[in-house]
Amino acid sequence: MRTLSNVLVTGGAGFIGVNFIHTLLNRTPAFTGRIINLDALTYAGNAASLADIEKQFGNSNTTGTARYFFEHGNICDRSFVETLFKKYDIDTVVHFAAESHVDRSILGPEAFIKTNVMGTFTLLDAARAYWQNSNTADKLFHHISTDEVYGSLGETGYFTETTAYDPRSPYSASKASSDHLVMAYHHTYGLPVTLSNCSNNYGPFQFPEKLIPLMILNMLEGKPLPVYGDGKNIRDWVYVEDHNSAVWAVMQKGVTGEKYNIGGENEWENIKLLDTLIGIVSEKARLDPVKVRGAIIYVKDRPGHDRRYAIDCSKIKRELGWQREVSFEAGLEKTVDWYLANTAWIDGIRSGEYQKWVERNYGGRG
Ligand SMILES: NC(=O)c1ccc[n+]([C@@H]2O[C@H](COP(=O)([O-])OP(=O)(O)OC[C@H]3O[C@@H](n4cnc5c(N)ncnc54)[C@H](O)[C@@H]3O)[C@@H](O)[C@H]2O)c1
Repeated sequence: MRTLSNVLVTGGAGFIGVNFIHTLLNRTPAFTGRIINLDALTYAGNAASLADIEKQFGNSNTTGTARYFFEHGNICDRSFVETLFKKYDIDTVVHFAAESHVDRSILGPEAFIKTNVMGTFTLLDAARAYWQNSNTADKLFHHISTDEVYGSLGETGYFTETTAYDPRSPYSASKASSDHLVMAYHHTYGLPVTLSNCSNNYGPFQFPEKLIPLMILNMLEGKPLPVYGDGKNIRDWVYVEDHNSAVWAVMQKGVTGEKYNIGGENEWENIKLLDTLIGIVSEKARLDPVKVRGAIIYVKDRPGHDRRYAIDCSKIKRELGWQREVSFEAGLEKTVDWYLANTAWIDGIRSGEYQKWVERNYGGRG
């Protein structure tokens, strides 16, 4: 088991990062270290999602030593990143920060190349420089990636860790580039890295541009439910806490230089997923499911839309003893409950309130 003391989490104000920080500080007794959250607070980042963590573990808590530090900045900013390594004596990096939405990458790929490729390079190189004269046995750079780097599957087969990369959108190409850089830094410079490629996540705190929260909110507001193409594209879905428990397993026990696939073993056609979600939301929010189903509209398919993703995650199960805990039905219920209960969070995003909060608290740097 690795001892992880000063953990730099990048993108910790985004969907998966927020959940990761909550899990590590609130529900992981084995973790006794500090978290330094470096986030640029783009449209997808929301530091208000961590207000409770800030209060309990941040500098302002009155009960003990702070274990949570928020640093507003950009992973492409080399001198700022270097300052953080020194200031906190970083021994572990968990790299979530990314531009993450495929549709946005089609409309404007440049930001994806900057953050996902140049940002990852900047972090890797800063870690290499800071750790170069120290014992790397207690250091780790864990890179979070996606199954989309593998391309698209036909009706059968699964992505394994040895599947050749075949990215097909600017998003997946930028993530593939970052994966290659991570592995190159291991092979060339001996940087202690691990890498995980995960399927689609869902759960609390997800920005409502992604399929599940978008559909939940559109249903609640009586808006149309847009489905790409024929609705038969297949994705594997994993509850965000199961993804994060897998990340934690890799951080503790993963072999450096190795990559691990993470998935929910849970393939769904988009249209069938939507039908299940309509059933849950209608029941919980007392909507007429027939009327809600009537709001489905089929829209022009996304260019280059990959048909099917499916992950073989037997390696992480076998080698690290990881197991998914949340069934899809239970995870969807938890997710719907969360969106129903957290209207203030949703309103904050919709009104741009949290961006104003960034201006007030951090002066808009990033
Ligand atoms: N969401 C999924 O289903 C999924 C699946 C597999 C892998 N991933 C990967 O997991 C990671 C996190 O995904 P997510 O869904 O939480 O993304 P997200 O878009 O919700 O959050 C990304 C976070 O990164 C921050 N960020 C963006 N650019 C930055 C920069 N230049 N410097 C510093 N911070 C920056 C944003 O402010 C935001 O807080 C990404 O690397 C993504 O590729 C996501």
